[in-house]
Amino acid sequence: MINTFLIGCCYYPEHWEKELMIEDLERIRSLGFNCIRMGEFSWSMYEKEEGKYDFSLLSQAVEEAEKLGISVILGTPTAAPPKWLTDKHPEVLCSDIKGVVMQHGSRQHHNHTSEIYLRYCASITEAMVRHFCGFSNVIGWQIDNEFNCHRNESHSEADDRAFRVWLEKKYQTVEHLNECWGTRFWSLEFNSFSEVTCPRAIPTQPNPSWVTDYYLFLSDTVVNYAAVQTKMIRKYMPQAFITHNGWFDNIDYRKLTEECLDFLSFDSYPAFFERNGLALGRNAAYKLALTRGCSSRYMILEQQSGPGGQLFYLLPTPLPGQIRLWTYQSIAHGAVGVLYFRYRTALYGAEQLWYGIYDHDREENYRSCEIRQITEELGRVGKWFLKNQITPQVAICTDYHNASVNKVESFAPDDCKEIFLALNRKNIHADFICPRDDFSKYKVIIVPHLAMADTALRDKLEDFAQNGGVVILSARSGIKDLNACYVPKKAPGIFRTLTGCSVNWFTTLPAYETQSVLFDGKEYPVDCYYEMLAEEGCETVGRYTNGFCKDQPGITKNGNVYYVGFYCKSAADLYCDLISQHIDVKEPISPDLEEIVMGEVRLCLNHSNKMVEFSGYDLLKEEAFDHIPPYGVVLLKNKE
Ligand code: GAL
Repeated sequence: MINTFLIGCCYYPEHWEKELMIEDLERIRSLGFNCIRMGEFSWSMYEKEEGKYDFSLLSQAVEEAEKLGISVILGTPTAAPPKWLTDKHPEVLCSDIKGVVMQHGSRQHHNHTSEIYLRYCASITEAMVRHFCGFSNVIGWQIDNEFNCHRNESHSEADDRAFRVWLEKKYQTVEHLNECWGTRFWSLEFNSFSEVTCPRAIPTQPNPSWVTDYYLFLSDTVVNYAAVQTKMIRKYMPQAFITHNGWFDNIDYRKLTEECLDFLSFDSYPAFFERNGLALGRNAAYKLALTRGCSSRYMILEQQSGPGGQLFYLLPTPLPGQIRLWTYQSIAHGAVGVLYFRYRTALYGAEQLWYGIYDHDREENYRSCEIRQITEELGRVGKWFLKNQITPQVAICTDYHNASVNKVESFAPDDCKEIFLALNRKNIHADFICPRDDFSKYKVIIVPHLAMADTALRDKLEDFAQNGGVVILSARSGIKDLNACYVPKKAPGIFRTLTGCSVNWFTTLPAYETQSVLFDGKEYPVDCYYEMLAEEGCETVGRYTNGFCKDQPGITKNGNVYYVGFYCKSAADLYCDLISQHIDVKEPISPDLEEIVMGEVRLCLNHSNKMVEFSGYDLLKEEAFDHIPPYGVVLLKNKE
């Protein structure tokens, strides 16, 4: 879909005097950019009065961009409905769990379910696509903007109506719903679908099956909402790509991508991970990998290029080198297009503090100079990144349904992210996959705390292990059915024969106690919850060191299948150590260096404010180097 490396920025011609447009676009070109994103959020300008469309300013910007050889991605403006629309149809507004209705005044105050809103979205999208379908430099569309970014739930009347329809489709009869949810518990039985609502303010814990279904429903409402726009764009511009910028809660991005997009994109703001002066930029790798799990090649539709803020916060200013570092990090994890947010900082509005490449003035600064350096480099080496990509040997297998169940039953926080980051710190890169994916390209599959699974997944894991692959399952696996109810079987239920073990006893970890597991001569502390395992054909490779479980099995191995009977957020490097018994893991050059092999080349990213001693020949700067400076990046021929 993308065959030239796309590099550019987000540009808002409507925020500036019209006279500046040509100069701005020339400047954008002179930064070395070949692509801009425009248009999201300006519905009130495009349709000042219902049905009267005016795209003149945006058209002019698209035409001027074309003269300069700049491609355009247009955003549909549906994340910011105009006042006349919400005044005329208050039912399109979203509500919080207490029933408080969100009003006009910022953005994303609409729900995803109102039939009326879906009709308006279809109309504005149709008008926009029909208007722009003849412009040859419009290469793609971004649907809406960051679904669920400010609020990821809605509890309006329109949502209640849509939830009932969704439930009726799923369960057919209300008796079946009662059965599957176990509503007999605490007298929650319903006599008809019309009695069911989205979750509401309630005195204590809800029925977990109700809330899990609500999360599945919320995601489906987003997919359905996106599909309305996809359909319109495909009708008039089948040649253009369709994407959307993630990554937020309560969305099954796999489903969204498969049903509505050509590829998923991501907005990368690594400064959100800066804490107490510690540069934790490499944490951004987690969401980059999640995005890759949906689309192996993707775009960054917003890459941080300045200190960002929204009135009540202001993130630290990227230090010299950091924008370049973050750009190459995005590329290393799969991006084949990067747009910086934003060209210039707005003088007014809720994001006056969201600094882009240029500050409120339009003077050149070190950030714009750094971006010129990046575009010059990409002009030479961008083609490598289109051809070569990261190919992890490890995969983490999970899915949206399981993640939703874990979110509802959240006493044991998911350590999936920590496992990913622990691996990343050792430069063991992982893909995120789901049970229906192809396992054969991996050597290790980690299945963390998968509460619900079916026999198809179990058999697939068994085949994978029999063919030499390594499987690592962990605590609280195989314990639930697809309705989020417990199965009447000893844990790990469906995985019992595969793992050759069972759970004899379990406990949460009291605050006054510590527990750890001894594995291969090293002690790993346990967090929050652990299980005493019983051998049923497996061997024990890790034993608890304290208390009631002292010397009892905590990690077992059955052929190539491990079972880790605990959570280990603070010792997630256990997974690195387990894995390194099976695949070659090179000792990192430095703990600060994220190293990523992409076919014939290797990127080394220094996320720290310290110099890293290391030498070689850098293909980015085309010169030999004997150290990597703070926040520096080098590109090497692989094997060096
Ligand atoms: C993104 C959003 C942009 C802008 C930016 C800076 O989340 O898509 O519209 O708000 O953050 O806050």
